[in-house]
Amino acid sequence: MSNTKLLVVRYLSIRKGVIVTPSLKYTVSLLKKYMNPYLPQVMLLAVLLLILSGIDILNPQIIRYYIEAVNEPVLNTRLILIASIVYIIVNLIHRVLFVIIRWISQNLAWSTTNDLRIDLTRHCINLDMKFHNQRKTGEMIERIDGDASTLSEFFSTFIIHFLGSFLLLAGILIAVFIESWIYGLIFLGFTIIALVALYLVRKVASPLWKKVRESTTALFGVIEENISGFEDIRANGADEFLMRRFHESAQTDFRNKSKAMIVSRVYYAVNILMGALLNIGILVASYFLADRLGIDGGVLFLLLSYGNNILRPLRLILWQLEQMQNSLANIDRIKEWFDIKSEITDEGNLLFPDEDINLEFDTLDFGYSEELVLKNINFNIEPGKKLGLVGRTGSGKTTIARLIFRLYDPNNGKIKINGLNSKKFPLSELRKNVAYVTQEVELFKASIKDNITFFDYDMTDEQVLRVLEDLGLKKWYDQLPKGLETVIFSEDLGLSAGEEQLLALTRAFLKNPKLVILDEASSRLDPATEKQVDLALEKLLEGRSAIIIAHRLATLQKVDDILILEKGEIVEYGSRAELVKNPNSHFSKLLQQGIQEVLT
Ligand SMILES: Nc1ncnc2c1ncn2[C@@H]1O[C@H](COP(=O)(O)OP(=O)(O)O)[C@@H](O)[C@H]1O
Ligand SMILES: [Mg+2]
Repeated sequence: MSNTKLLVVRYLSIRKGVIVTPSLKYTVSLLKKYMNPYLPQVMLLAVLLLILSGIDILNPQIIRYYIEAVNEPVLNTRLILIASIVYIIVNLIHRVLFVIIRWISQNLAWSTTNDLRIDLTRHCINLDMKFHNQRKTGEMIERIDGDASTLSEFFSTFIIHFLGSFLLLAGILIAVFIESWIYGLIFLGFTIIALVALYLVRKVASPLWKKVRESTTALFGVIEENISGFEDIRANGADEFLMRRFHESAQTDFRNKSKAMIVSRVYYAVNILMGALLNIGILVASYFLADRLGIDGGVLFLLLSYGNNILRPLRLILWQLEQMQNSLANIDRIKEWFDIKSEITDEGNLLFPDEDINLEFDTLDFGYSEELVLKNINFNIEPGKKLGLVGRTGSGKTTIARLIFRLYDPNNGKIKINGLNSKKFPLSELRKNVAYVTQEVELFKASIKDNITFFDYDMTDEQVLRVLEDLGLKKWYDQLPKGLETVIFSEDLGLSAGEEQLLALTRAFLKNPKLVILDEASSRLDPATEKQVDLALEKLLEGRSAIIIAHRLATLQKVDDILILEKGEIVEYGSRAELVKNPNSHFSKLLQQGIQEVLT
């Protein structure tokens, strides 16, 4: 790795002022961290590249030897034959080496950046909800996968192209100098002129291409907007306005592309011109110097083929340097995300008690933004008791569940578990002991078992089966075509909403939680499974402290206390039995009018 690192450092010190120092340090640390485990491969790659460049330089020498042997007055057929065979073997080796190098460098690029992807994904998963709420899925994919892919491309081609080109260039110059210092000087002068010329054209072209990318993105944005808003646009007669915008974007894009294409053509023209110039230089010099320097057909061939080979490494070196700048921008973005820290962290290391817990909300206020969505919330659930949480959509029920998990922390007040601030328990402990069952069941296209255990391979089939039996689901399980290995969302099995709910309940039950929060489905259940769900629920809640966010009266009949929320405030809180007795209570009215009518 040290070679690449060195180049990075060197390149950056040349460009200091453009790229800020932290990113240099960070780049090096990133390379160190992710490349170090693969040091042997990197070394091997360097050695193979050295051999490859060696062959590139050796090849014209073999042909030159061949030409000279053929031109001898007395033909030595044996030598000519040997030269031919050597040429073929060397080139075969060249091809094989090339493939091996490609393979190693691709492999290296993927392994290193996959490690980076994993780290970045893990980092993001552990970040607060606040982070996730602010980001669109597309952005996440673009950052974690897109940026890492660009980096992996850079890692893989940078080593091959930059190092390989550098070695080849140096090798050619040395070989030519050995042949004759005059030609050496011609080649060196040419290298410098070509580097400057190509660099200058690229410098003009790069910003143009960047502009093309911007205008193309903008154009796609306009097209997407037009398609997704098709009906509205038609209905409102906005066609003309939007077509004009489309034309404008398309025009800008076209103009940018034309300019960039022209400059790119100039770049190719300069390339060809440079190649021609060198050939002319070699031929003219040979015309005057051939006799004095003893240049024959073989040497002339050698020089011309070195001349033809020298432009490619020059181009690649420049191109890689440019790529490196893009990659550094990627690295900056990756760093930006790694630097985001969770505000919600472990603040203590208490273990959850073994017995049922007491949960208390103590004068709690909370808002996702400035505006509070929960105000002065106080309630207490004694061990093994159940609280029914009732309120319209948007009143803050789900938010209460999120706070218990510490997906967010309250602005004011506390959540207490057995009288202790819940922050005193590690997040993992909290999330292990509290089960949250919602109507949105997250299922994977995987076996029933993996879906229930969340891919916890320590869980045995027996454990899962026992839970299924405990929940009264033996019958359901028995009709699965492949038992626990039945893959859902496949031809094996599709699931009804009720069955999904059953899986979610099994999952929760397997955790053996100390507190269950149930965000009940309002009307999704099919009558066929509703009974089973009710039965399983009863089992899950048996003897556990629970919060039940209920939409059905049937569920509310099983709770001990009722809490009614309205716009984030408690409007009623008391024992269910007493609220039922009092005809003026909100709850009694709910019962009379029907919960569905009032709450939805
Ligand atoms: N992630 C979020 N970011 C900002 N506001 C939110 C978020 N989730 C919910 N809210 C708002 O908080 C309030 C309470 O929402 P929620 O707890 O989901 O209510 P309920 O579960 O009772 O329907 C609503 O006004 C809702 O718009
Ligand atoms: Mg909700």
